[in-house]
Amino acid sequence: MSVIALLSDWIKSQKIKGPQMKDAPTFYRNLEEALDLRRADHSMFTNHKSAWKLGTSIDFCSNDMLSLGTTGEIRRTFLDELAANPNFAMYSGGSRLMDGNYDYIEDVEAEIAEFHGSETALIVGSGYEANTAIYGAVPRPGDAIVYDELVHASTHDGMTHSLAQCRIQFRHNDVDALRDAISSVLDSQPMIADGSRSLLISVESVYSMDGDICPLLEMLEVAKEMCPLGNAVFIVDEAHATGILGPKGAGLVSQLGVEKDVAIRLHTCGKALASTGGNRYPRKCDSSLCHYELRPLRHLHNCTLLPHCCGNPSGIQHDDHRKNPEVPRQPSTRSEAFFKSIEANKHWSKASEMGILSIPVIEDWAERDFNAHIVPLKTRQRYNWWLVFHLQLAGISAFPIDYPTVPRGQSRIRLMFHAANTEEQVETLASAICSWAAEMIEIEEGAEGAKKMPKAAHQVYALMAANA
Ligand SMILES: Cc1ncc(COP(=O)(O)O)c(C=O)c1O
Repeated sequence: MSVIALLSDWIKSQKIKGPQMKDAPTFYRNLEEALDLRRADHSMFTNHKSAWKLGTSIDFCSNDMLSLGTTGEIRRTFLDELAANPNFAMYSGGSRLMDGNYDYIEDVEAEIAEFHGSETALIVGSGYEANTAIYGAVPRPGDAIVYDELVHASTHDGMTHSLAQCRIQFRHNDVDALRDAISSVLDSQPMIADGSRSLLISVESVYSMDGDICPLLEMLEVAKEMCPLGNAVFIVDEAHATGILGPKGAGLVSQLGVEKDVAIRLHTCGKALASTGGNRYPRKCDSSLCHYELRPLRHLHNCTLLPHCCGNPSGIQHDDHRKNPEVPRQPSTRSEAFFKSIEANKHWSKASEMGILSIPVIEDWAERDFNAHIVPLKTRQRYNWWLVFHLQLAGISAFPIDYPTVPRGQSRIRLMFHAANTEEQVETLASAICSWAAEMIEIEEGAEGAKKMPKAAHQVYALMAANA
């Protein structure tokens, strides 16, 4: 299927449906009218086909960061794991607290706890479930949560079910802002100030839409200094560090060697590990205590966990995976190649000076110890889709990220770099971005200014008109 055919499908999915539903039953009409609000600005999410999966485009968007999926590594490992465990149950039987528990799951939990240097581990169906479970079950009445303003939606959803009534956000990755937030909790919550209730601090290792890394060591220092009674604890969501950062991809906490200073870590298998399932590692609290004594962990009570959810991650974490010598171990080598390549392009400096392109994480990239595989690419808000169209027509799959995933006015394209992306692919990406920027520079400096549109946008809008 060609990129144009995929774009046509997408355009069709954004067509307003309400007016044709006038005589339809109220229930269906109301649903379509609600969806029309998103179709109107082309931001309706659809289950469309990905061009890169069809082989017509380069993948700079999927979460398959270690390329375990695209190289077939995960499939091989899963089949090996199945063969090594002939009694592996391919069925579930119910929730784990009823009929759905298996030795295999417990063995995997023990293995991954050891791998991550944690006392225990608990597997749930997804990272999303893990976050809703953590925040729904762990905080006690009177506890407070302070959280980075960019934590994932699943953390927010979890917090809405939390018994911690005092919840304060702090400016993203800002250690002073964390200090202010802790100070305001200590001022307003005497039971936290006197050490009889806990302060939970929620951060992520690598932020999913910004690609920057939490200054965890500094934050731990601040918390220790301000809460010397030891009742400030960290919950670290390692979703985008899993498989990427730390020894054998064990995460940021392991990389920094602060396992003992972090109360709970969340690792997802749905990103670099090319699988599914979420693992949470409480440092001290015995997990059965969480289920039975604190607050029902609804996901354990009410959700069935497929045993093979944990088959994949266990295989790849503990076998020495990534054996394919063709594939570099780290996708960060690819993001670094991209930084080099785009900085060397003759249009980059002017485009960034004019504000046509910006990549916040490119600043000082060469001095950093580690560059993540997630790179937000920004342009003027009204150009965001034009750049996406340009990349798509150039055979590059990169997704636009809009509100509500990011705050209004912060739309961007999220570039995801993978271990298996080649140098040539990275170069193609950088030069496609810069050729679009050159077109935009010419437009902005030309006599017609804002009235002109770049070529790719013209092409897509013409397609839209033809489909109207
Ligand atoms: C930071 C973060 N936490 C949790 C999740 C949820 O993980 P999962 O996809 O395994 O449900 C995501 C997924 O996007 C994420 O980015």
